[in-house]
Amino acid sequence: MQTRADRLAGLGTTIFAEMTALAERTGAINLGQGFPDTDGPAAVIDAAVAALPGGANQYAPLPGVPDLREAIRRHQRERYGLEPEEVLVTFGATEAVAAAILGLTNPGDAVILFEPYYDSYGACLALAGASRSVVTLRPPDFALDPDALRAAVARTGGRARVLLWNSPHNPTGRVFDRAELQAVAEVCVEHDLVCVSDEVYEHLVFAGEHIPPATLPGMAERTLTISSVGKSFSFTGWKIGWCSGPAELVRAVRTVKQFLTFAGGTPLQHAAAAALGLGAAPLERLRAELRANRDTLAAALAAAGFDAIVPAGTYFINADVGADAARFCVELPERCGVVAIPTSAFYDDREAGASLVRFAFCKRPEVIAEAASRLAGLRR
Ligand SMILES: Cc1ncc(COP(=O)(O)O)c(C=O)c1O
Repeated sequence: MQTRADRLAGLGTTIFAEMTALAERTGAINLGQGFPDTDGPAAVIDAAVAALPGGANQYAPLPGVPDLREAIRRHQRERYGLEPEEVLVTFGATEAVAAAILGLTNPGDAVILFEPYYDSYGACLALAGASRSVVTLRPPDFALDPDALRAAVARTGGRARVLLWNSPHNPTGRVFDRAELQAVAEVCVEHDLVCVSDEVYEHLVFAGEHIPPATLPGMAERTLTISSVGKSFSFTGWKIGWCSGPAELVRAVRTVKQFLTFAGGTPLQHAAAAALGLGAAPLERLRAELRANRDTLAAALAAAGFDAIVPAGTYFINADVGADAARFCVELPERCGVVAIPTSAFYDDREAGASLVRFAFCKRPEVIAEAASRLAGLRR
């Protein structure tokens, strides 16, 4: 008999394991997985080290340690003018998304997704027994078509409960603009949808601005905002995330989270509070480094004859390789010693991204320079 695990195994993440194995076997530079190869600010590590002998080694309160919750509130207020009713610390943004979907939907409900999408989204829906109605974002601009969004809601026949949003967007690097956000807000209000907004790349923006959906009229009362320390501060292994928003929505997440993990990472929660207290300087440094990496890789991809889609945010760049991307990625390590991911892995409609390849540029400048020189040597 097929178990739920058997069904989940078919979703998403296998491509990362396959590509990592390929990188290890061939010794290629791994630009497949999206995590940095350097740690975040030393002051934050010092805060974690100080918390360990400081008596912060037992269960944290279920909502999170007070200093981190206060730091999250301050961040939302000072950066976006938001005053969330409740804040909850989670085991990374991933747990917040999972607990939100489990807590806010019933089996048979529908969730509006935008493809390509981060692979955990599909798995969370499967766990919750929710169906998905998908809006396809197409290269090269990955723009949101409001009519396609309305059609996706209409297809659910009134069963849509949640719209799962992600901007800056993995894997496309899109930072959605105000007009697109407006379309999302209108649809959410009109159809009484909860917006679950994954903003883990909120600080990795090179052009335009990050606009949290909660800041749009009518949205604060229906938006659960999610972020984490992983991408903004280069501590992806810490898995300290959070969500904030209306009490009723945060309560739903907390209720599920209580029985998944309760609370964890107490010393790291204190260190995450220190990270949020560092101000703009480390974020600006990271952005400047990533922007330079992005430009190096974009130039190399163009030199190789590929159409690079230069992203406004995140640390992913896509290139149209004009051929079957899955096959291209399998051959790339042998051809030039670089590993990348076929973007089609993030689409339900594999045809939509069939010739797109995603490269992560969150690596040391010298690693990106070496990858760039290997890629530039490829000719289409
Ligand atoms: C869109 C998106 N959301 C969430 C996550 C994971 O966040 P965390 O490590 O905080 O669980 C990732 C990591 O790649 C991501 O790309």
